[in-house]
Amino acid sequence: MARILLKDLVKQFGRVTAVSGVNLEIHDGEFLIMVGPSGCGKTTTLNMISGLETPTSGEVVIGDQVVNEIEPGERGLGMVFQDLALFPHMTVFENIAFGLRVKSVADEEVRRRVLQAANAMHIAPLLDKRPAQCSGGEAQRVALARTIITNPAVFLMDEPLSSLDAKLRLDMRTELKHLHERLKATFVYVTHDQAEAMTMADRIVVMRGGFIQQVGGPLDIYRRPANQFVAGFFGTPTMNFLQGKVETDGGRLRFRAKSIDFLLPAGAGPGSGREITLGVRAEHVLVGKGAQPGRVTLTEPLGDETLVFFDYGGDAPLVAKVSPELHLSSGEAVTFGLDEAGYHLFDGATGERLN
Ligand SMILES: Nc1ncnc2c1ncn2[C@@H]1O[C@H](COP(=O)(O)OP(=O)(O)O)[C@@H](O)[C@H]1O
Ligand SMILES: [Mg+2]
Repeated sequence: MARILLKDLVKQFGRVTAVSGVNLEIHDGEFLIMVGPSGCGKTTTLNMISGLETPTSGEVVIGDQVVNEIEPGERGLGMVFQDLALFPHMTVFENIAFGLRVKSVADEEVRRRVLQAANAMHIAPLLDKRPAQCSGGEAQRVALARTIITNPAVFLMDEPLSSLDAKLRLDMRTELKHLHERLKATFVYVTHDQAEAMTMADRIVVMRGGFIQQVGGPLDIYRRPANQFVAGFFGTPTMNFLQGKVETDGGRLRFRAKSIDFLLPAGAGPGSGREITLGVRAEHVLVGKGAQPGRVTLTEPLGDETLVFFDYGGDAPLVAKVSPELHLSSGEAVTFGLDEAGYHLFDGATGERLN
């Protein structure tokens, strides 16, 4: 059983609180991704699971056992780090074999299992090379094979793809997801890259400043971010935010911001007089539908769709996703509306979700 429980987990480094009371259950066999900006406590949390860091307070439970006092090597975990930590003087074969060599596994079995792990990661032709003779992507696969061979119930991975170039990173995402489906092990994966989290995770844990902000499936988090921070962190381009105030208007609620105002859906949440931030993603800004005037400042063709930035008289331009068939150029006048199904309402002061 590879369920992991984190109970009131705290880690302080002197006066810095890196992790501030994290409570989390990681299910057996899931692909869980912890994501958040640099310095938010991801690595420290992962290191407390692995045993590389000792919690200041709280518990780490693996299976049914509190492991706080258990050595990293005794926890049944496999680790893959950003810097890979391959042994430069050993061949790829011996790097992969390392975890079995230290357990004095017989040569014949080592050979069989190295080949199996190397085949799984498509690096069998590299076995006689040294790490320095491998490309970045190949070295990454060697590091994964070296972990796979020890057959851990839990894989802990800390930004394992961050040293790869963009194309390779995309390929490796798909491959890691396949690997997870095949091994059915628990994956706990740390990244600062929201797209990586969205594409691979069964569940995402969003962290900020040592605190968990939200836990949920990728689409739950995209569609119902718990606060403005999460809303802005996920999705490209970044969600549009408009600051304004809620007013009553003939029994309905109206949102009024600089140069723009519109009715809120019935039962929207915030009461009259409240300062709020309205968030709306680019796909919910409807260019050509609606009566609000705007002027295009920039277009970014992405191939299958185009991003259009336009001024409407507010504090910042809005960005919309439009069809590439809609040929718009800078300076052109447009009209737009907002799809109210895509409204995210946040408290103007705290950023907490209101609808
Ligand atoms: N060994 C350490 N000594 C002092 N401060 C540390 C140490 N490790 C991490 N920190 C601090 O703890 C916070 C969280 O760090 P970390 O867990 O590495 O963040 P992340 O992996 O999300 O980028 C940061 O403010 C970092 O500077
Ligand atoms: Mg880190």
